[in-house]
This record gives sequence, structure tokens and C-alpha cells, in this order.
Amino acid sequence: MKYCSLRFNNKNCLVGCELSQKCIVCKADAIVYIPYARAAFCREHFIKFYKRKILNTLKDAGFKGGKVLIGVSGGKDSVALLHALSSLRDDIKIEVAALYIDLGIGVYSSKSLEVVRGLEKALENVSFYYFDIKENLGFTIPETTKVLKRPACAICGSIKRWVLNKFAYEHGFDYVATGHNIDDIATFYLKALLTQRTEDILRGPEPLTPGVPELRLVGRLRPQFFLSERENMLYVNLIGLSFIDFPCPLSRRATLFKYKGLWENILSLNPVAQINFVKTILDIKKHLTPPKQSNIKLCKVCGYPTTASDELCFVCRLRKKLGVL
Ligand code: AMP
Ligand code: FES
Ligand code: ZN
Ligand code: ZN
Repeated sequence: MKYCSLRFNNKNCLVGCELSQKCIVCKADAIVYIPYARAAFCREHFIKFYKRKILNTLKDAGFKGGKVLIGVSGGKDSVALLHALSSLRDDIKIEVAALYIDLGIGVYSSKSLEVVRGLEKALENVSFYYFDIKENLGFTIPETTKVLKRPACAICGSIKRWVLNKFAYEHGFDYVATGHNIDDIATFYLKALLTQRTEDILRGPEPLTPGVPELRLVGRLRPQFFLSERENMLYVNLIGLSFIDFPCPLSRRATLFKYKGLWENILSLNPVAQINFVKTILDIKKHLTPPKQSNIKLCKVCGYPTTASDELCFVCRLRKKLGVL
């Protein structure tokens, strides 16, 4: 193996790991080496390091606390996020709740639901909410692909954003938090650069996006902005949390996955590359003004934002197309 960003005492690792076999904090045997931080940690100090990164990300973004609704899919990222944020409640003055959206994707959705129900039992002091899209909106994700030519993942992403925002707005939350990690974010910006999607860069993800109350838009938080998939995976394993460990069957062909693979070579060359890349983009964005979206209106059916000229948002249009509105 040429590169491993997280080492579980991996004797075959050829880089970096041998630099330190001991936790840099307490000198106990390390269980992991984090190349970009040039540090090895024991279990306890990795967990502290992980939570500190979440705290710093939120603090640097100017987060001042509030009511946070976490979108929990049952995957390792959002499961780690829910656990970490609920254990940091007192440090950052937040109230946290979880929302699971049942997308009706066969076994994948039923297994994810099982995981989230298990999490609800384990995290007694967190309120859990459930939103079944078939029950509430009249369709499942697989059904949408019959009437729309877009990839399932893109359709699904728009629906999840609409549900999370609407639910959070109607239940008085200040923010929706999602488990997007540095791999997702760096890949999003890399793809936008390589395909000349300037607008995607200008409107791309940030650790904190403030809400726009007059447009019924709740703020967005991405507390794992600078944490990798592998760090999230290690966190859930170390805490002993269950998660759904197989991918959504509809997302396999997504081109974003292909772009994600490009990072492996870059990171073997420079372990800080992803973080530096994203920080550079954010720095550049600070000096730019995104084009004003003056055409945002509220959907004439559901009352949530849309840019469509017929004042029908994506979800309402989809429901109309499917004959369920
Ligand atoms: P994805 O769009 O699948 O990459 O997921 C990104 C983030 O959206 C996850 O980390 C979750 O925070 C949230 N999310 C994804 N799927 C669901 C779901 N079914 N229910 C609630 N939140 C979700
Ligand atoms: Fe949305 Fe798979 S989870 S298409
Ligand atoms: Zn230690
Ligand atoms: Zn609508």
C-alpha cells in the first residue's frame, strides 16, 4: 500500500506511519496516523482531535449556536456528525435533533431506517423525526427516474434539500446540518473547475451558509467540512456506532464518484492537498461577489423558494408530472 491516511497499526504502510508509533499527546500506543496533521493518536486523543476539528470549523465560520436539525441518512458521515454534535452541545450552545428521510429505495432505505432507529435508542437525549417521501409527497426516488432524465442522485439531492429545509423551517430550527466531508467538498470544487462551472464555484458549499428568512431558507452547516471520510469512519468505529455500510444502489454511476478517485494520487504526493485546495477556493471566494439571484420567488404551491419562471418549485413540478399533486 502506497498511502493510508488512517492506519490501524498497519505494518505494510510504506509512508509516514513509522514516524510515530506513539500518541503525540499521551505517548500511549497510537492506533492511527493522520498524515496531514503529521500526528499519531491513541483512541481517546483521536476522538478529542476529531471533535476539536468540528468545534474549530464552526467557530472559524462564525457559528454562535442555535437549534440544529441534522440530516441523518444512516451512513457513517451523518452518524458520526450526530454523535459528535450531540456530545458537543454544551460547548457550542446548540440544541440538536435528527431527521431521517425515507426515500423509498428498497432494501437500502429499509436498512438505513433500521440503523437510524437503533441510533435513536442509543442517543436518548436527541429528538428523532422521520419523513417518508411516499407518504408525504406521493412518490419514491426510483419512481422519479421514470419521468425525469436527470441521474437519480441529482433528483434525490434536490428533494432532500427541499425536505430538510421545509421541515427545519416549519419546526423552528436555525440550521440544517449535513455530513458533507472534505472528500465530497474538494471533489465538488474540483469537478466545477474542470468542467468550467464557475457559478457552481461561486455558489458552492461553505462551512456555514446563513439562512434567508424572507425566502424561507434555513441556514446550512457543514461541521465536517475539513474531516475526511476515513476519519468519520474511524470515529464511528471507535465509538461503536452502527451505520449502513453499503452504497445507495442508484448512485453507482454518478460522475462525482469518478472524480473522487483522482484525489488518491494527489494525496499520496501531498496529504494536505485536499484541505489546501478547499481553503484556497474559499479564500478566493472571499474576494468575489456571487451574481445576485434576483429571480428567486416562492413556489405558488408549497411556498418554498424557486427560480422557475412558472413559480413552481422542483418538487411541486415533479409531483405534478407524476400525477400526485
Ligand atoms: P448525500 O447527498 O447522500 O451525499 O448526503 C449528504 C448528506 O445529506 C448526508 O451526510 C446527510 O447529512 C444528508 N442526508 C443524506 N441522505 C439523507 C436521508 N435519507 N435523510 C436525512 N438526511 C440525509
Ligand atoms: Fe439519493 Fe441514492 S440516496 S439516489
Ligand atoms: Zn493519547
Ligand atoms: Zn413547491
